Amino acid sequence: MNLETMKSIATTVVLLLALLQVLEMAQVQGSLRLLPVEKQRLRWLHRGGGIVALLLMFLIAAACVFGEGLRFYPLRVGIHAVAGSLAIAVLLTKVVITRRARHLLRFNKALGGIAGVLILVTFAAGVVWYYL
Ligand code: HEM
Repeated sequence: MNLETMKSIATTVVLLLALLQVLEMAQVQGSLRLLPVEKQRLRWLHRGGGIVALLLMFLIAAACVFGEGLRFYPLRVGIHAVAGSLAIAVLLTKVVITRRARHLLRFNKALGGIAGVLILVTFAAGVVWYYL
């Protein structure tokens, strides 16, 4: 399996995980009722899933930089690289808020939404482009 395929699979896993993250928190906040899991456990799963997504994104980013080199052209590659890096930065901010600055917890929802969109853009400018 080549590097592109491995990164594409890992990025698809991150995207699915991000979708699950949104569903979990929507249920915690009472907007929907899909998963047969109680709120406390869903919150715990959200935190664990978020850390797994973040670690996977670090690994994918390292594989991109060390496997392909750091470049921002053509435009698609630039969008992919910037969106992926911003997604990592946003998730790191969420970790800091969750563990060290809980008075800012109200921003975690918006940051989660932003991270989800950035992950989708990274996926669209990478995986989708390779395979469609
Ligand atoms: C838009 C929907 C989302 C909402 C409402 C939301 C909300 C939250 C909240 C309230 C916390 C703090 C949990 C606690 O104090 O126990 C949190 C933590 C976190 N969330 Fe989200 N989130 C959302 C989407 C996402 C997405 C899409 C991701 C990642 C792909 C993500 C990754 C994380 C991470 C990494 C943490 C910190 C975990 C830790 O440090 O233990 N969230 N989120």
